[in-house]
Amino acid sequence: MTESYSPGLEGIVAGETAISTVETGLTYRGYAIEELAEHSTYEEVAYLVLYGELPKAGELAGFRQRLGAAAVVPPELIETLRRIPAAAPTMDVLRTATSMLAHFEPEAADSSHAANVRKTERLLAKLPVVVAARQRLKSGQELVIADTSLALPANFLWMLRGQKPSEKQVKAMDASFILYAEHEFNASTFTARCTVSTLSDLHSGITAAIGALKGPLHGGANEAALGVLEEVGSVERAEAWVRNVLAKKQKIMGFGHRVYKDGDPRAVYLKRLTAAVAAETGHQDFETMAEIIETIVWTQKRIPPNVDWPCARLYHYFGLPKDLYTPLFVVARVVGWSAHIIEQLDNNRIMRPRSIYTGPAVRKWKPVGNR
Ligand code: CMC
Repeated sequence: MTESYSPGLEGIVAGETAISTVETGLTYRGYAIEELAEHSTYEEVAYLVLYGELPKAGELAGFRQRLGAAAVVPPELIETLRRIPAAAPTMDVLRTATSMLAHFEPEAADSSHAANVRKTERLLAKLPVVVAARQRLKSGQELVIADTSLALPANFLWMLRGQKPSEKQVKAMDASFILYAEHEFNASTFTARCTVSTLSDLHSGITAAIGALKGPLHGGANEAALGVLEEVGSVERAEAWVRNVLAKKQKIMGFGHRVYKDGDPRAVYLKRLTAAVAAETGHQDFETMAEIIETIVWTQKRIPPNVDWPCARLYHYFGLPKDLYTPLFVVARVVGWSAHIIEQLDNNRIMRPRSIYTGPAVRKWKPVGNR
């Protein structure tokens, strides 16, 4: 048993999947993410991840119509969002809301393939409503009803701000959602698959996955990466800051990856787009700070940035509150998690690994007075 032990399951193959692979760059159902981000919309990609093929025009129209119709949440949930203390992180609120949505889901107990696809579509439509509603309630603003003529990422920006986003913003938001949509057997996806491998339900799998994504070593890194730039504060401080942190052997959030040792293709793609948005929105100082940090981390440690590094800046340039960055990752990733849940249940075997015991040898029990 000891021969197969690998801390953090590094290098361990824990299952099969037809959804995505990181073997030759990153592909979803066979399509390179760069091509998808360049030419597709998030809704097309969500359909691809969930159904296995890019949609034909009629299929896309039907999908968009169903997402639009489901872009509402029960008033009881809005009331709960109103009552949760304002200081609660949006990720925690989203985890609670996802769990609560199960109580209003008519097919909650049906874990058939078809029902899970229908539930995924509804969750995909409802989670952006939750995030936008919570943010507006927290800041004492009226709720903005979804505009079903808009695509999902644009609709999120509309519900959050009550203003239509520009075409450029929509394109950049779409690309970030496409790049966040799916990523093989990462910690949160594996959590989702483990959860439903007991024959638990889709909402439980997604709720568990949200909990796993929250940590700063995973999805929480996008909020932490902006924290890095905020802490650095200025271009002049960047070099000294990064050298000091590396000398102390501390980690810099937004860098490194278990699989991509030469570079995360999502970060490479998003960097160009982020730089263009920075130029438009007057955030050149942040780009310069990021570049200095990136160059020194690469030169000293040969560690490249991951997707969260440019994405944190992109969302900052959009003026989005930092506390929404990881929730947005959830909104984009829910389709990937769901596709994995469905795939797991289509060919299920309960996840039950073993461990190496490091505790005391067998010993004799003693009555309380003799211990
Ligand atoms: N900054 C500085 N050093 C690092 C970093 C970093 N971000 N990441 C890894 N290292 C060093 C680490 O200190 C170790 O050095 P040494 O061998 O001298 O002890 C070496 O690189 C290997 O690191 P590791 O933590 O054993 O690598 P891992 O494969 O177990 O972890 C990781 C991968 C992503 C958890 C890690 O790189 C990390 O903690 N990065 C920061 C958090 C982050 O950005 N996470 C987002 C991941 S990608 C997208 C997502 O999931 O959201």
